Amino acid sequence: MEREFIMIKPDGVQRGLVGDVVKRIENVGFKIIGMKLLKVSLKQAEQHYAIHKEQPFYDDLLGHITCGPVVAMVVEGKDAVRVTRKIVGATNPIDAVPGSIRGDFALEIGRNIIHAGDSPENAIYEYKIYFNEEEFVEYNKIDERWLYE
Ligand code: RTP
Ligand code: MG
Repeated sequence: MEREFIMIKPDGVQRGLVGDVVKRIENVGFKIIGMKLLKVSLKQAEQHYAIHKEQPFYDDLLGHITCGPVVAMVVEGKDAVRVTRKIVGATNPIDAVPGSIRGDFALEIGRNIIHAGDSPENAIYEYKIYFNEEEFVEYNKIDERWLYE
């Protein structure tokens, strides 16, 4: 099963959207194996967004992600990365279709509620910044035999 790293950003937490976001991730059938509320440190933010270091929005991005609590999650499931990115929607909420998280809850690119890893490799790189492998809880979900054929 593939793992995906998801983070509800400070705007999502402050707007009371944690439950709505988690519900959508659960609805599709993914298994949550790690979840925590934390404040992202500058060091963690720099690691997380290293790929965007040269971008003009980099400083704003770091300022925002470190400005308040976030909810970090790791989920497991079939095609977890591709499916999650669909649930999340396009980066700019104006392009995100209704029914996606960003399409339903956001208006601006720098306040787009949620982060999700864009490849299985990047998801692993990212969750290692926030979780130790020992923190993940492995268990069987009772709906698995009805989700997978
Ligand atoms: P994320 O990493 O947060 O899941 O979002 P993403 O893959 O859809 O977008 P990415 O290109 O990785 O950009 C990371 C975050 O940076 C902010 N951003 N601002 N002002 C801008 O032009 C701009 N471009 C990107 C967004 O908050 C985006 O989620
Ligand atoms: Mg990204």
